Amino acid sequence: MFRHLVCLSCLPLLLLGLSTLAAAQSLSPPPDCAQLLTERCESCHYLTRVCQQLGKKSKRRWKRTLKNMARYGARVSPAEQRRLVDCLSRPAPKVVQLCAPPAGKASR
Ligand code: HEC
Repeated sequence: MFRHLVCLSCLPLLLLGLSTLAAAQSLSPPPDCAQLLTERCESCHYLTRVCQQLGKKSKRRWKRTLKNMARYGARVSPAEQRRLVDCLSRPAPKVVQLCAPPAGKASR
């Protein structure tokens, strides 16, 4: 009985919470992978370094690489590292595009 009461009074709050969470997320979407790569990874080396490994490293090895980069001084939060591991081990279309500049442009 008590549990019932708690649930009923919680429901509107829960829904409110969920909707504000969704709103907050749409306001600040998770960092875009391609953006992270161009903003945080090119200060020390060309993206070629990253692109050469695209689709070759396992998820675990990307994790290790990103940890190394953070240790070298790359500004990537743990959440951003997870995001990058994801989109590098299963290359996101935007990342593939980033690595394959349109013909005519010098490849880096
Ligand atoms: C503070 C400087 C710095 C930044 C920023 C940096 N790197 Fe590196 N990176 C290095 C150095 C130094 C090496 C060469 C040493 C090595 O191979 O571990 C390297 C090598 C690499 C390599 C090739 C070696 C390997 O382990 O496969 C990859 C891939 C790589 N970096 C990915 C990234 C990514 C992705 C980012 C962005 C999150 C990044 N790096 C940002 C310094 C940096």
